[in-house]
Amino acid sequence: MLSGFPLEHCRALITGASSGLGAEFARQLAPRADVLVLVARRAEALAAVQAELSAMKANILCCVADLATDAGRNAVTAFLAANSVKPNLLINNAGMGDYGSFASSAAEKTRTQIELNITALTMLTHALLPHLERPAGILNVSSLASTLPMPNLAVYAASKAYVTSFSEALAIELSPENITVSCVCPGPTPTNFSNTAKRTNGSDTNRDGQALLRIPPSQVVREALGALQHGKPCVFPGHGVSIASRVFRMMPRGIMRWLLKRRVRKE
Ligand SMILES: NC(=O)c1ccc[n+]([C@@H]2O[C@H](COP(=O)([O-])OP(=O)(O)OC[C@H]3O[C@@H](n4cnc5c(N)ncnc54)[C@H](OP(=O)(O)O)[C@@H]3O)[C@@H](O)[C@H]2O)c1
Repeated sequence: MLSGFPLEHCRALITGASSGLGAEFARQLAPRADVLVLVARRAEALAAVQAELSAMKANILCCVADLATDAGRNAVTAFLAANSVKPNLLINNAGMGDYGSFASSAAEKTRTQIELNITALTMLTHALLPHLERPAGILNVSSLASTLPMPNLAVYAASKAYVTSFSEALAIELSPENITVSCVCPGPTPTNFSNTAKRTNGSDTNRDGQALLRIPPSQVVREALGALQHGKPCVFPGHGVSIASRVFRMMPRGIMRWLLKRRVRKE
């Protein structure tokens, strides 16, 4: 039985903390943490989150880095060493999508997506693991999209399938080392995600049925932190998303493909 990670007095590194779920992780941890290191590319947006939380107990540091590059990932570990921060919690939250067909996608955006959603999450975990003070926690942000193939969001869904699989394997590998690994799989959540995923002059994603699944970032983050605290390897926040995940994972693949083909034809 996994025991879970205690959040009180944690020292957390949060990637993608300049908006959306990452900023919300900072908000909910700030009253309990000793140190928060916020990582993203936009310095002003990070500074705004830092200013918003300045009255809180945690010491909040901002690290500007492009995690889609080796240089940016190395800058994060250098920042921790330069500021003598020894984190015991890593929240791999930064991620992005790309709405539209794979064939028409911009090669550079597809590469960036893989670098950010897969490589950054994996290599940051690898780099920090030896230095995480025990008991430690790793919280990876995956997606409901990890449970099914998604035409017109193909690379994103596949990258999140990687995140869920990787996280569940790590949870087993690392539990004897007193490291709790949890993975959160949100459904549609109102953040900046869609603006980044939309292509210039491109169409929006098919939102049929999404209203039933949508919950606010505050609930996603509350359930994610709860899962980490209780040593739950994977959580699907919200009743609708939780039910949808069970249906998607149990559905015979042939039926799944038939339904997806119909949905794509309707678009
Ligand atoms: N919103 C949803 O419906 C939804 C559903 C399921 C899963 N998720 C997942 O939730 C996570 C957070 O996304 P969100 O919904 O909160 O979207 P968001 O508001 O767009 O936040 C994304 C964050 O990632 C950062 N980021 C993007 N590219 C980066 C890069 N190259 N280097 C460093 N940081 C980078 C962004 O900051 P900068 O632009 O300042 O770099 C921002 O802080 C993602 O992993 C996403 O896949 C979201």
